[in-house]
Amino acid sequence: MGFGARITGWGSAVPDTVVTNAEFEGRLATSDEWITERTGIKERRWGGTTSSLSIEAGNAAIKRAGLSAADIDLLILSTTTPDQAVPATSAVVSHKIGTSGGAFDLNAACAGYVYAMVVGRAMIGAGVNKKVLVLGADTLSRITDMDDRGTAILFADGAGGVVLEATEDQDDFLGWDLGVDGSAQPILYADHGSYLRMEGREVYKKAVRVMVESAEIAMHRAGVTSDDIALCVPHQANIRIIEAACNRLSIPMERASVVLDRFGNTSSGSIPLALVDAEERNRLNPGDLVLFSGFGAGMTWASAVVRWSGN
Ligand SMILES: CC(C)(COP(=O)(O)OP(=O)(O)OC[C@H]1O[C@@H](n2cnc3c(N)ncnc32)[C@H](O)[C@@H]1OP(=O)(O)O)[C@@H](O)C(=O)NCCC(=O)NCCS
Repeated sequence: MGFGARITGWGSAVPDTVVTNAEFEGRLATSDEWITERTGIKERRWGGTTSSLSIEAGNAAIKRAGLSAADIDLLILSTTTPDQAVPATSAVVSHKIGTSGGAFDLNAACAGYVYAMVVGRAMIGAGVNKKVLVLGADTLSRITDMDDRGTAILFADGAGGVVLEATEDQDDFLGWDLGVDGSAQPILYADHGSYLRMEGREVYKKAVRVMVESAEIAMHRAGVTSDDIALCVPHQANIRIIEAACNRLSIPMERASVVLDRFGNTSSGSIPLALVDAEERNRLNPGDLVLFSGFGAGMTWASAVVRWSGN
């Protein structure tokens, strides 16, 4: 067999500023009770830049892998909120961290992190790279209309990522699925220099459907069923979306990682934040199968079944 990939390091970063639901009360026609019941979010973090959060998360992941920055031969940064239109934020992040080889940004909205992991695995599988830093970072607070109660309460800032290393003996990436349906563009978008606009209910309905279908395809390709999944790491948009998707996939909620109550929807940051949180709570053991599943504007969706082998 050719090269496979393992996750050997992981890290995350969030800004210091905590914004509670109570802080929206009075300013917007909403309440802590409404936000908690309809979304599961209690508080979120706002602040930092996409590059500053990426650098912190990337340094932590490289340290956890026991590597030095120069060992990394490719950096992929999933983001929808680059610091500047040009250059790609990954250029700045690569420079500040000190990685070798190439670097590029990838934009597949909130599904972008799983897209980026699959691209990283593919580069390793093709024999092009040996050690890939896959980061996901977004500062959605910069493109959120703080006067719109339908979106201001949801979106937030955060980052996370993993180091993928080439292996010759085993491949921890067992199956994956990537998809897109651009006909859904009108239900979630941001024009250049403008705020995110969303038809929440439409996004909600499609999100559950695409997550379930995509996760089923990835599990089928991996040759496993939901009974084999030790941990589900879903995109953190709304607790009701996660509950509905897990229910349809027959994955009990005890086997899902949920951090949206503390961090809200951080787009590309959300899946690695949920992964790192699960690892820190000792919820992952070597050999465990992890199901990643995300969806986002586009609509995009992506799922992957990855064996956790630790480091
Ligand atoms: C946005 C979302 C929380 C709204 O919850 P919902 O149960 O679908 O509520 P609806 O959109 O049907 O709105 C119900 C009512 O609540 C109102 N409402 C919306 N936001 C509110 C808020 N923050 N506080 C109080 N009321 C609110 C709506 O205006 C609507 O009022 P109306 O009945 O008078 O028109 C939910 O649709 C959602 O999470 N969608 C997916 C969003 C998502 O995941 N986006 C990111 C994708 S990566």
